[in-house]
Amino acid sequence: MYSKKVMEHFLNPRNKGKLEDADAVGKVGNPVCGDVMYIYIKVKDGKIEKIGWETMGCAAAIATSSMLSELAKGKTLEEAMKISRNDIADALEGLPPIKMHCSNLAAEGLHKAIENYLNKEKIINELMKVVNRKDAEALFKIGITSLDDLKKASMEEIANAVSDEGMEKIKKFLRK
Ligand code: FES
Repeated sequence: MYSKKVMEHFLNPRNKGKLEDADAVGKVGNPVCGDVMYIYIKVKDGKIEKIGWETMGCAAAIATSSMLSELAKGKTLEEAMKISRNDIADALEGLPPIKMHCSNLAAEGLHKAIENYLNKEKIINELMKVVNRKDAEALFKIGITSLDDLKKASMEEIANAVSDEGMEKIKKFLRK
């Protein structure tokens, strides 16, 4: 069912794991299957210097995350924005049609990470309507990039990221 290349990336994934010093993260969920992916990027001189990912998903999602990371590394943000799900699937020597939605997740996650990177100040200002700057930065780091995301995120994930004071403010905001 899967190409040799997909199996090779699934069994030996590249750039796997969270990037602790990431400049931005793109968090995406797949409405078809409920799987979740985080793409982390570190940017230097307008290029993706480092990339990492965490994927809670199927074999195709893991292989596409791995391949995406190879395709995006070293690219300018503009070039990386153009990487499409078909580019990833082609580089993996094809994906079964029912698995194409999985490759969509990886491309979308990367594009979201880049958009978040470019709009960081705007996003932080939005989150600062609820919490202080330090907590807003902490939320940004776990892929929460709007007040709407804040409403949808898991309380456990938020509690692990922000200060107690920030958590109280968020609870108050969510009760409104
Ligand atoms: S089945 Fe969920 S990402 Fe592939």
